[in-house]
Amino acid sequence: MRPKPSLLNILYSRRTIRRFRKKEITEDVLRLIIEAGQRAPCYYQAYSVVWVKDEAKLKELGELCDSGLVTQASAVLVICLDLHRLRLVLDKLGHDHFMREDKYPAESFFAIFETALLAENMCIAAEVLGYGSAMLDCVLFEFEGVAQLLQLPPGVIPAVVLCMGEKDENPPPRPRWPTDSVLHRDTYRDLDVSEVDRYLDLAEKLLGAEGYLRKYANWNDSYREYLKARTSTTKDTKRHAEELSRLLKQNGLRL
Ligand SMILES: Cc1cc2nc3c(=O)[nH]c(=O)nc-3n(C[C@H](O)[C@H](O)[C@H](O)COP(=O)(O)O)c2cc1C
Repeated sequence: MRPKPSLLNILYSRRTIRRFRKKEITEDVLRLIIEAGQRAPCYYQAYSVVWVKDEAKLKELGELCDSGLVTQASAVLVICLDLHRLRLVLDKLGHDHFMREDKYPAESFFAIFETALLAENMCIAAEVLGYGSAMLDCVLFEFEGVAQLLQLPPGVIPAVVLCMGEKDENPPPRPRWPTDSVLHRDTYRDLDVSEVDRYLDLAEKLLGAEGYLRKYANWNDSYREYLKARTSTTKDTKRHAEELSRLLKQNGLRL
């Protein structure tokens, strides 16, 4: 195989890190990471980053997230969609803009997309600077608590928490679909059932070898069972989905 240039090496060897050694990340370094995030392709730059520094807030965020990572990490950044700032800009222009309408799915979709690009650039910048990172989804599910804790105005929607710090583990690569299942040539080729089985077997094998589900999810059964448990619908999941849809709509997202 041809040697890979160094940024590719970083992309290939990045893993989500869930064990950190406490070591300060200075404001200068943090700004570099955020600026690198901002260099990602963008649409309206409808995003904001809240750096949570205050110990009491970190503790509360850790409780909301039910995750020790938040208090273990050296920097905790809540990455938000920011439709609030976008609205300020458009209102200032004084025209009849799309946010005054009830439907703008494309703009909502691209705001999510560009926020994800910002977050990913930040992860990679952190890796380049020698730090590991983990994204946590909890802030979306704890939207109201997080909005109150960080005093987010309506329209600022917490998407993920990015926890960063010095790596205290060196995990193996986690499973990915074979590139041939992801890459289509000219037309879309549907998977056959054997490819689905092969992927599930691969995931079972790699995650089993790492002890991933036992370590991080306290789960002792198979990956297939874990996936089923995470994705089954119950009365609770339906209620939560309805609540979240309502909150997102209230905060200006129109999908
Ligand atoms: C939107 C998003 C939310 C995530 N939320 C969590 C989370 O709440 N907890 C967690 O441990 N990992 C979370 N992750 C990390 C994934 O679990 C991880 O990227 C995936 O298992 C692949 O592992 P790798 O990053 O080491 O390749 C999240 C990733 C994304 C993209």
